Amino acid sequence: MMKKRIFAICSLAGLFALAAQAQQLPVYLDDSKPLEQRVEDALSRMTLEEKVAMTHAQSKFSSPGVERLGIPDVWMTDGPHGIRPEVLWDEWEQAGWSNDSCVAFPALTCLAATWNPEMSLLYGRSIGEEARFRKKTVLLGPGVNIYRTPLNGRNFEYMGEDPYLAGRMVVPYIQGVQQQGVAACVKHYALNNHEVNRHTTNVVLSDRALHEIYLPAFKVAVQEGKAWAIMGAYNLYKNQHACHNQYLLNDILKKQWGFDGVVVSDWGGCHDTEQAIRYGLDMEYGSWTNGLTMGASNAYDSYFLAIPYLKMIREGKVGTQELDDKVRRILRLIFRTEMNRQRPWGSMNTPEHYAAARRIATEGIVLLKNEALKRKGAKPAALLPIDLEEVKRILVVGENAVKMLTVGGGSSSLKVQREISPLDGIRARVGNKAEVKWARGYVGDASGEYNGVVTGQNLKDNRSADELIAEAVAMAREADCVIFIGGLNKSGGQDCEDTDRASLDLPYGQDRVIAALAEANSRLVVVNISGNAVAMPWVEKVPAIVQDWYVGSEAGPALAAVLMGDVNPSGHLPFTFPARLEDCGAHAVGEFVKERSREVVDVEYKEDIFVGYRWADKQKKQKPLFAFGHGLSYTTFQFGKAQADRTTMGSDEVLTVTVPVTNTGALRGAEVVQLYIRDVESSLPRPVKELKGFCKVELNPGETKEVSFRIDRSALSFYDDSRSEWVAEPGRFEAIIAASATDIRSKVPFELK
Ligand code: BGC
Repeated sequence: MMKKRIFAICSLAGLFALAAQAQQLPVYLDDSKPLEQRVEDALSRMTLEEKVAMTHAQSKFSSPGVERLGIPDVWMTDGPHGIRPEVLWDEWEQAGWSNDSCVAFPALTCLAATWNPEMSLLYGRSIGEEARFRKKTVLLGPGVNIYRTPLNGRNFEYMGEDPYLAGRMVVPYIQGVQQQGVAACVKHYALNNHEVNRHTTNVVLSDRALHEIYLPAFKVAVQEGKAWAIMGAYNLYKNQHACHNQYLLNDILKKQWGFDGVVVSDWGGCHDTEQAIRYGLDMEYGSWTNGLTMGASNAYDSYFLAIPYLKMIREGKVGTQELDDKVRRILRLIFRTEMNRQRPWGSMNTPEHYAAARRIATEGIVLLKNEALKRKGAKPAALLPIDLEEVKRILVVGENAVKMLTVGGGSSSLKVQREISPLDGIRARVGNKAEVKWARGYVGDASGEYNGVVTGQNLKDNRSADELIAEAVAMAREADCVIFIGGLNKSGGQDCEDTDRASLDLPYGQDRVIAALAEANSRLVVVNISGNAVAMPWVEKVPAIVQDWYVGSEAGPALAAVLMGDVNPSGHLPFTFPARLEDCGAHAVGEFVKERSREVVDVEYKEDIFVGYRWADKQKKQKPLFAFGHGLSYTTFQFGKAQADRTTMGSDEVLTVTVPVTNTGALRGAEVVQLYIRDVESSLPRPVKELKGFCKVELNPGETKEVSFRIDRSALSFYDDSRSEWVAEPGRFEAIIAASATDIRSKVPFELK
């Protein structure tokens, strides 16, 4: 493999030298020429066989260029949280390299929870540099599938329940990656909102839900982020697999949105030669050999877009128009990446990358609850941040305090250069200021292996649940403060690809452990590590709750910094924590996965556009456990009265709404000011309100800043499926300024003329 690459590089250099000698560089090699001219020139020099070869994989993660012309191969990598370790040419198993350990960046749920597009850019640049250093053409990420249900095993790889938030956060990530000359491949387009039956789910939903909820983040990724690649999803839509889908790929993505990049199949997402030719797929990857059998190896020639494609062309069953379109797209990809001589070299495992991972993590961790506790002879005070002048004996309980969480979860699993556990992070931060003990509390999943990457941790423990609880409770009684660190993990049935969770509950009997700890010591902090909402039946008994995520290499230092107050928390939830599963639209009225099925089964999104807080807002009696957009700080913020620059706006005008925000506490901190729009009267049912702006504002104690939002007609529009277009209906609206979907601070009425 290496030999081949070196040859490709040499042959490219040779061609440059030859061409320079002859004083005439072929157009496709001349990067002073416009991209499209270079593409046409290269295309005109290629044989039919060379063109077909480009459209399918030659190994697990690569597809060929044209060696004869010095056009390099394409190399893909997962994504989206770090650069996947190298696998064998034709196997998922490790290649056994010793130089492919990476920095694990926080999961995308954590990135979304920062509500800070600057963090997305930092993330994109950093991971892009790692991808570039590892000589990758395409990074398989980011993912922006909408969080429809808390049971989806892959929510941790996505950016939450709201299309606007996901859209604002995905754009800078893409730009950051692509600035390195590496393509971002936005996935999984579209409607892959659960994992069980992911190959056999035919999603049935209204055009409105498709366009208002499930597509907008992809649309901005393409139109604003200018993503060079997109990955088709496994599921079906209108009974066609999403990887070759006339509606999603040809009509919407390529025609309506003007996407000029490549559509890559998800691994094994291609099912039919003719459909792949006609319905928008450009590059076929990961097919199960001849498409029928699983696991046979080295059958790339049997891929749907390999010999079967050539055969159809030779027999005159299809022309070459579609092929040329696919190859043009692939050439564009290669010119933008591999053949971009201006691109930087990249870097790996640098102090800057660790610092970026830590910074994003500390901005994304969410303080859910922090109640003041009574104290003897002193004023009541919140438990967090932990005051090490007072707290001398800390007990940490829970498996997630020690378990490596970068291994597992499916294709995003990583081989890290280092991962600092929460317990080690807390110990390092506390130093000799307090004693830190650890108790297991429960046994979750002691295993730690994915595709040959092993954590090497021995987490086996044969004690019974009762014994573990008794030990933790006895130790809790002796402690000044207890920090329970649990949640989900990356094992099957938790936060893991190809599986979904069975319920909203915490697994492994953790509720019992938490309840027992709360009885034993009122100074209890619960840290939930997950990529999904969980039920918290003990919520009233626990004074401080922190939502942590899979934050990667810097898990420990990031959490410790928040718990000890080195960083003032400013993360806000990118999805709703429902009190019960039935409080989520997909489970109340919608359909969820039925039994495992090899046959195609319809799953109807009956909750329609009412996903997440849009559903919660509609239910008058249900209050979420924690609302979308919720997140506390160690300081307090006061919002003044919001004001609009006018009371009416014309359809092409922009209205500006301004609100003063003051830090009324004693610490520097950041607040996420959220703008929701309510359509007071409309011809179609609309959500009570929808997020249309947000701004993270950092303030010193006593400081006030004005936050302004610009509202244009796109913020007022809905998708009218009878006309297949976005419509802003004249009438009354409200701009709602809020600190979460249920914490409304100010409202400004206005009218669209
Ligand atoms: C996943 C993709 C991933 C691909 C390659 C698939 O199973 O769905 O997200 O990029 O594998 O590993």
